[in-house]
Amino acid sequence: MVTCYDAAFASLIEKTAIDMVLVGDSLGNVILGLKDTIPVTMEHMVHHTAAVARVLRRPMLVADMPFLSYNISIEQALRNAGRLIQEGGAQAVKLEGGAAIVPQVKALVAAGIPVVGHLGLTPQSIHTLGGYKVQGRGAQGDELLADAQLLAAAGVCALVLELVPQPLALAVTKALSVPTIGIGAGPETDGQVLVLHDLLGFNGEFTPKFLKKYANLGELVVQAVSRYDADVKEGHFPGPEHSFQS
Ligand code: KIV
Repeated sequence: MVTCYDAAFASLIEKTAIDMVLVGDSLGNVILGLKDTIPVTMEHMVHHTAAVARVLRRPMLVADMPFLSYNISIEQALRNAGRLIQEGGAQAVKLEGGAAIVPQVKALVAAGIPVVGHLGLTPQSIHTLGGYKVQGRGAQGDELLADAQLLAAAGVCALVLELVPQPLALAVTKALSVPTIGIGAGPETDGQVLVLHDLLGFNGEFTPKFLKKYANLGELVVQAVSRYDADVKEGHFPGPEHSFQS
C-alpha cells in the first residue's frame, strides 16, 4: 500500500503492481503544508480522493476519515463515509482508534462500506499521545492486541499498525484473520504502507528510522527548476525549436 493525493501520481501508481492506494489524511502535512492532520476536513478528503479515483483503476482505493468526522455519532460516521465512497469514489474508508469506534465500524460494515482500522501511533490523537513516538510498549501492548481483536470482530477488512514494536505487530498479525499493514512495525505484518512523498525522497531532512527512500526526487526537482530558471535568464530557452514562426 502507498499513499497518493492527486491524479498525476495516481496515473503513475496505476503502472505499478501496488495492491492498495490510501488517500491519507497525511495530505495535511504532505500537500497542504499543515503541521499535523488535525485540521484536515471532509472537503479536503473528498476533493483529493476524487482526483485519485478519476484515474486509478486496478488498486483498491482507501480514503481516510479525517479528525472528528466519525467520533460524534454513528449517523455522522455513516454520512461522512458515504461521501468518501459516493463523491470521492473510494472503495473503503480508514478510521483511527480501538474499542471506542467499534460501534461506528459495525454500522459502516453493516451498510456495505469496507473499513480499514488503524492502531498504534494514530496521528489524529497526537495531543493525547504526546508526540510521534512508538506505541504499545509493555502493558500497552495487551491493550492494543485487545483493540485489534475487537476491530476484527467488528468487521474491519484490514488493519494498519503504525509505529509499534515488531513483536507486538507479529502477535497482532498472528491473532487476526484479516491482513495487517505495517508502517514502522517491522517486516512481519502481512503488508506495508509508506507515504508516497517520503519513499520518493521529497524531503531530504525527513529521515525517520522506519523509512526507506527509493528515490531522491526532491533534489531532482530543485535541479530541474534551477536549470529552467537559468536557461530562461541566460536566453537559452525558448530556442527556435520551441517557437512558432507562423
Ligand atoms: O494518513 C496516512 O498517510 C496514514 C498512513 C501513514 C497509514 O494513515
